[in-house]
Amino acid sequence: MSKVALTGIKPTGIPHIGNYLGAIKPALELTKEFESRYFIADYHAINTIRDGKLLKNLIYEIAAAWLSCGLDPEKSLFYRQSSVPETFELSTILAASTPKGLMNRAHAYKAVTAQNKEAGKDIDDGVNMGLFTYPILMAADILLFDTDVVPVGRDQAQHIEMTADIAQAFNYQYGGDILKIPQGHFSKDTEIVVGIDGRKMSKSYDNVIPLFAPSKQLRKIIMKIVTNSQTVEEPKNPDESHIFSLYKLFAAEKQIEALREKYLAGGMGWGTAKQELYEVIEATVAPIRDNYDRIMSDKTYIDEVLKKGSEKARAVAAATLRRVRSAVGID
Ligand code: TRP
Repeated sequence: MSKVALTGIKPTGIPHIGNYLGAIKPALELTKEFESRYFIADYHAINTIRDGKLLKNLIYEIAAAWLSCGLDPEKSLFYRQSSVPETFELSTILAASTPKGLMNRAHAYKAVTAQNKEAGKDIDDGVNMGLFTYPILMAADILLFDTDVVPVGRDQAQHIEMTADIAQAFNYQYGGDILKIPQGHFSKDTEIVVGIDGRKMSKSYDNVIPLFAPSKQLRKIIMKIVTNSQTVEEPKNPDESHIFSLYKLFAAEKQIEALREKYLAGGMGWGTAKQELYEVIEATVAPIRDNYDRIMSDKTYIDEVLKKGSEKARAVAAATLRRVRSAVGID
């Protein structure tokens, strides 16, 4: 039987090309090698999103985003966390034996308490229990599906380690290989996607190139990429250009070599380099954007996909939960 890859997707907004290249594409590529499972982590999202209408819409958007990037619901499990109630049962069982001290050490929680301390506030100011127990819910997501590998960004490494710790402690306590110990799978691409200001592409830097922007808007954003003040005539160093580093992510080998020559030869202005970049990005994103628009205009299709996925997911989850309940004596 092939190994299982599983990842959770937080519905926190429409992805940009950095998310696409650094997270979505590598996660979807694992489908070739693994039995893959993707779910929308909507219970994790309610820790921060307190507007029901907004969340509902974000869930549709993120589902449409992954489907349009090539997630094939016939080949992978695709479901909503909230449609698999076994998750919450396992989460409660795991909470019973998870040391509070482990949660105290979680980076996300520690960051808030450190900020509070510095501001002279109570250290737990603004901290909800959802944030505090976030790693336990995430462990339940992963362990419920007998996951071998979890494709995530480096920022999630501690959560995966905690999941492994929690599973190991559980297995030790109840004597046996009841829960499978997962490993993180970190994509290398994540760090190299630069935003339009040359820093890492990130929503919090406001420097993103959106994945689904209409072509006109996409071009406008690409034209805003920050450059130096070299004139058209001057030869340019491709290896110091954000435009070129983005170009390399989308263009074919031959195109990359041809553009490198143009940079070095001089006579090409930044406007032209940006136009070339726009064209290769547009060629990649246009079909994805068309898929996205089509899928978003048919919400019942999204509902159906997720419903079917959740039914299949529950069957897998129920089997794990039976093992767990039997081990703890509440079967
Ligand atoms: N914490 C992850 C993130 O912020 C989302 C997530 C929730 C997740 N549950 C998961 C990822 C289980 C992988 C596996 O991106």
